[in-house]
Amino acid sequence: MSTVLILGAASDVAMACANEYAKKGNNLFLGGRNMDQLAINANDLQIRYQVKAKAVFFDALAFDTHAAFYQQLGERPDITICVFGLLGDQKVSATNWEECKRVIESNYVGAVSILNVVANDYERVKQGTIVGISSVAGERGRQSNYIYGSAKAGFTAYLSGLRNRLTTSGVTVLTVKPGFIYTKMTEGLKLPKPLTAKPEDLGRAIAKAVEKKKNVIYVLPIWRLIMLIIRTIPEGIFKKLKL
Ligand SMILES: NC(=O)c1ccc[n+]([C@@H]2O[C@H](COP(=O)([O-])OP(=O)(O)OC[C@H]3O[C@@H](n4cnc5c(N)ncnc54)[C@H](OP(=O)(O)O)[C@@H]3O)[C@@H](O)[C@H]2O)c1
Repeated sequence: MSTVLILGAASDVAMACANEYAKKGNNLFLGGRNMDQLAINANDLQIRYQVKAKAVFFDALAFDTHAAFYQQLGERPDITICVFGLLGDQKVSATNWEECKRVIESNYVGAVSILNVVANDYERVKQGTIVGISSVAGERGRQSNYIYGSAKAGFTAYLSGLRNRLTTSGVTVLTVKPGFIYTKMTEGLKLPKPLTAKPEDLGRAIAKAVEKKKNVIYVLPIWRLIMLIIRTIPEGIFKKLKL
């Protein structure tokens, strides 16, 4: 039995992960801002699966609170899953620094801030698993979402560095690079069905990848091929594409 800390735990993807771990008898910390929702979710998990589930307040942008947040858990989570993120509005981000900063900080700075704390602790005790949900958007900047994409690119590079640093300490770092997912973030967008995962697909894929100590997963395997093609398009052609 493990204890799992989920950050950004009110989202559909987070709840899919929570369900996946709870049904196998693992205990959970649900970290996020929406305490009412988190308390309902925690209660539901406890009743349904007879596990311990606790809602804990966590704001990814309150960097100064992250060390204390981790300390007050009172128990070291075996697995930490960093789910939070913010798509934002690319057009607004391009002209409004406050929005741009919010997107960068929500997807990159906040994740680095809390995972530094977790990673240092895991390194000290030579165990633990860190999971970061990044995005295929981080693999090549496109005009439609390059502020979000560049923050995710930073997050992907951070997780890669963390894995490289911690591997000799026995700490596992999993990078998750989903394509599209049906969630609140993509509500209203017309998504191609064969390329779009359900939150439950992520829950299952993440639990399986953690068990197998994988390094990087794309969730739907087709995205590995798509991104290979996208990465190999010469820049002279790529820059003229409307992507
Ligand atoms: N949906 C997709 O197509 C897609 C594709 C690739 C990658 N992803 C990534 O997958 C992850 C989950 O996304 P989703 O689609 O489930 O999005 P979502 O429904 O918008 O959920 C994002 C979650 O992040 C939380 N969050 C945002 N800022 C936070 C902060 N400052 N502190 C704490 N929590 C914060 C939100 O909490 P509140 O409820 O408090 O707002 C929300 O629960 C994200 O990292 C996203 O970038 C999504």
